[in-house]
Amino acid sequence: MARARDFMIGVFDSGVGGMTVARAIEQLLPSYDLLYFGDLARTPYGSKSPETIIRYARQNTAFLVAHGARLVIVACNSAASVASEILAREFAQPLFEVINPAVAQAVAATRSGRIGVIGTRATVRSGIYERKIGAADERCMVYSQACPLLVPLVEEGWMAKPETKMILRRYLAPLKNRQIDTLVLGCTHYPLLRHLIQPRIGRRVAVIDSSQAVALRLQEYLGGHPDLARSLSKTGRHRHYVSDVTPAAQDTANRIFERQVELIKVDDFG
Ligand code: DGL
Repeated sequence: MARARDFMIGVFDSGVGGMTVARAIEQLLPSYDLLYFGDLARTPYGSKSPETIIRYARQNTAFLVAHGARLVIVACNSAASVASEILAREFAQPLFEVINPAVAQAVAATRSGRIGVIGTRATVRSGIYERKIGAADERCMVYSQACPLLVPLVEEGWMAKPETKMILRRYLAPLKNRQIDTLVLGCTHYPLLRHLIQPRIGRRVAVIDSSQAVALRLQEYLGGHPDLARSLSKTGRHRHYVSDVTPAAQDTANRIFERQVELIKVDDFG
């Protein structure tokens, strides 16, 4: 585990999907050490109640902070949608999440003001994108679509199967009918389906990847907070802790990083 003087960027997710965020951070800020926690023992969050997700999110944040996270990134859209304001109040560390940066990019990208959002049931039910996009620009219309089958398809590695393409067409059809010109990928797993989503929603639709959006926001923040940036360890090391390990999660993690990733199991978590 971390040495006492190591301060790191902490990232948590319900599982390994949030590694799309860790990967985006690695690509943008390769020298920074990163501590990842994936709650594989309790995944998925997207089908759980807000109360349960909030309880898990608190425990995950406390774990990261106890192990040296100097700032915390909520990579999981489902957790961010119900817990980020609570975490920001309860923890002293700067907190980042995937929703605000994606909202800012979507509002900047749209020309017609018609924005689509896809996510888990928990994220869509929370109405968070409607509230935040509405607050950023009240002229925007938001059309949300829960896509509960996409996470299991990604976790099965079904990224090129005809069944996945068919399901995507079904999920995206209502958004196409609404003539959106911007689509937010509001879930950790969806960047892995971007190559299938873009042609099906239409080449002219701006697709917003919240993992890249939050990595950019973090880079900007560190640029504006040089003392904090200086205090963070920079040996380029990423450590990936999980509350359970399964072969499927290991495959997904390797696929996201395009290399073999070591998953370190934390016992008795939660
Ligand atoms: N990490 C979740 C999200 O981004 C997807 C997986 C889950 O449902 O736990 O919403």
